[in-house]
Amino acid sequence: MIEFYDQLARFYHLIFQDWDQSIARQAQQLTEIIKSEWGSEITRVLDLSCGIGTQVIGLAQSGFHVTGSDLSAEAIARARREAAARGLEIDFSVCDMRNAYRHHGGGYDLVICCDNSIPHLLNDDDILIALRQMHACLRPRGGCLITMRDYDREERGKGILKPYGVRESADERYLVFQVWDWDENHYDLTMYFVEESRSSKAVQTHAMRSRYYAISPNKVSTLMEEAGFAAVKRLDGVFFHPVLIGTNRS
Ligand SMILES: C[S@@+](CC[C@H](N)C(=O)[O-])C[C@H]1O[C@@H](n2cnc3c(N)ncnc32)[C@H](O)[C@@H]1O
Repeated sequence: MIEFYDQLARFYHLIFQDWDQSIARQAQQLTEIIKSEWGSEITRVLDLSCGIGTQVIGLAQSGFHVTGSDLSAEAIARARREAAARGLEIDFSVCDMRNAYRHHGGGYDLVICCDNSIPHLLNDDDILIALRQMHACLRPRGGCLITMRDYDREERGKGILKPYGVRESADERYLVFQVWDWDENHYDLTMYFVEESRSSKAVQTHAMRSRYYAISPNKVSTLMEEAGFAAVKRLDGVFFHPVLIGTNRS
């Protein structure tokens, strides 16, 4: 998994039609959710799977004081470059979310874990460890916000194609797609970037592989309650994935 995201870091923006637009749209949607769920008391935000910075960059631009960490050192290196290029000062570090409290300590107003990061933990025990660490990172009445795929709605089988589209840059054209192979409640994913140079016409395929646990959002909600979160609920139609919300009532 670390290798998957280390290899993916230089291509990650190509998953989006326009990464900067996605950064802005996601920040707006997340800000609306944060204000409506917890009011204006949220300032210090901790992103435990920030990747190359899709959520932290936009939230920092929206005025939140953000901290970002991720398991992939290459993703963090790119997140640092992307933040610096936008004149943002964000504290980034490499950390496994299962070790979040030991690494970051407590007192945060909000912990986020977005874009289907939780299903990289391949069993309930590891997810519960991560959720307990998130809970410990929060001040009393602090919030937790997780976004993830709804696996109850995904087609299962072998060789399932997930096209992302064609992306153009100055000299390159990329064809981006995934192929999924299911194995009961897990699936193996290969992410492909077919890169064509317009000038030389040379074509290269970059392929990277990872495994996911297709846990349902309902099961993650149950584990959030077990980890100590109160008022756990699911929001649909407010972000491109279902959003799970919980509050630290300790
Ligand atoms: C689909 S990416 C999302 C990244 C970022 N939130 C975004 O939307 O661009 C999932 C991220 O989860 C991270 N990740 C997976 N397992 C992790 C773990 N145990 N601790 C911290 N990060 C993890 C990966 O390295 C990857 O950056």
